[in-house]
Amino acid sequence: QERTFVMVKPDGVQRGLIGEIVSRFEERGLKLVGGKFMRIDEELAHEHYGEHEGKPFFEGLVEFITSGPVFAMVWEGQDAVAQVRTMMGETDPAESAPGTIRGDFGLDLGRNVIHGSDTEAGSAEREIELFFDDDELLDYERVDETWLYE
Ligand code: GTP
Ligand code: MG
Repeated sequence: QERTFVMVKPDGVQRGLIGEIVSRFEERGLKLVGGKFMRIDEELAHEHYGEHEGKPFFEGLVEFITSGPVFAMVWEGQDAVAQVRTMMGETDPAESAPGTIRGDFGLDLGRNVIHGSDTEAGSAEREIELFFDDDELLDYERVDETWLYE
């Protein structure tokens, strides 16, 4: 099964959306294998969003993501990376369909509630390693697994 890195951003935490977001992934059938309530420091922010360094919105993005606690998670399941991206909606909440997380809870591009690894090869693995030690990721079976997969 595939693993992906997901994070409720500072705006989502402040707006009381952690439970709602966790529920969506749980109910979908994805399995939580790691979770951490934490504050991102400047260095981690630069590493995590390194691909955007130099872009006009970069400094604001770093300032925002370090501005308050985030809830970092690893979710596992069939096509987890792509399924989570679909459930998140588009980068811009204004273009996100109702029913998606950003389409239901966001309005502004710079306050889009949630992060999920993109589908580029290696992205999820890189981000999981950046945020979690191996012993913080738990191997176990969910009781409904035989009913989720053919
Ligand atoms: P993440 O899950 O946060 O990585 O979002 P994403 O993968 O959907 O988008 P991307 O990686 O391209 O951009 C990272 C974050 O930077 C986005 O979630 C936005 O909050 C922010 N961002 C991207 N493009 C812009 C922009 O043009 N203007 C502003 N203000 N913010 C942007
Ligand atoms: Mg991204």
